[in-house]
Amino acid sequence: MALRETTDVTIRPLSAALGAEILGIDLSRPIDEATFATIHRLFLDHSLILLRDQHFSPEQHIAFSRRFGDLAIHIFDQFLLPGHPEILRVSNKRKNGALIGLADAGKYWHSDLAYMKRPSLGSILYSLEIPPEGGNTLFANMTRAYDTLSHDMKARLEGLTAVNRVAEGRRTSADGRILMSKAQLAKTPDVVHPVIRTHPETGRKSLYVSQSHTDRIVGMDEDGGRALIRELVAHATRPDNIYTHLWRPHDVLMWDNRCTMHRVSPYDRRRRRHMHRTTIEGDVPV
Ligand code: OGA
Ligand code: MN
Repeated sequence: MALRETTDVTIRPLSAALGAEILGIDLSRPIDEATFATIHRLFLDHSLILLRDQHFSPEQHIAFSRRFGDLAIHIFDQFLLPGHPEILRVSNKRKNGALIGLADAGKYWHSDLAYMKRPSLGSILYSLEIPPEGGNTLFANMTRAYDTLSHDMKARLEGLTAVNRVAEGRRTSADGRILMSKAQLAKTPDVVHPVIRTHPETGRKSLYVSQSHTDRIVGMDEDGGRALIRELVAHATRPDNIYTHLWRPHDVLMWDNRCTMHRVSPYDRRRRRHMHRTTIEGDVPV
């Protein structure tokens, strides 16, 4: 029987915690089914995949992303790429004084769209301009975070749920102004998700709480719930559970929002940082 030909791909692990770089793929060229199946499997196995030196158009970015599922149109519609609402600009560039993108997408640990009833499966971020220093993106492996909890803690978390919502810093400014429109607020009522979720494709359990989006634990008093969330985030973000991505222009980085969290490290805000992100819709967490 003839073996189906696949593109020769080589992979390079990015850290002990998670992530793999895939070499030998050019996303500006057609990706056949067998090659896509390999990319998809590597994504599930490593929770984060990196493809460097990619030169592709917004249309190609969107088309590649769609192979993983339907795309979410981000609620912050003022930051969408004109003509391509599937692309969210993660950028500190300005036009007529106003930011054209989400300038600090994620100073604090989070998983994308955890504040939606159906959060994201994964995000694909494509770097166009990066500052000379800082602005790295850190990723934590939430499956490993769950696996390394004590037996007692696992038992305590079983069946717990938490209220998730848009991060306070996005809702109101430091001086108390409401930053979201009525329509944006209407699309983002508080949602309840399990504290431990089971990955719909791998069947593995992960912790699903974050600094930005998890507000309180259902059935616990506010302080007790927040202390537990802090403890879990601290456990999940120990240095040995993290991959830190140092960006180069034209990196395509895709992460699994169902089993990782991420945040961006500080950088000089006078330096330009400009990226395009697509967001794939996921399942209701269970
Ligand atoms: C994001 C995000 C972090 C970064 O795009 O979802 O959180 O490094 N970005 O810009
Ligand atoms: Mn994010």
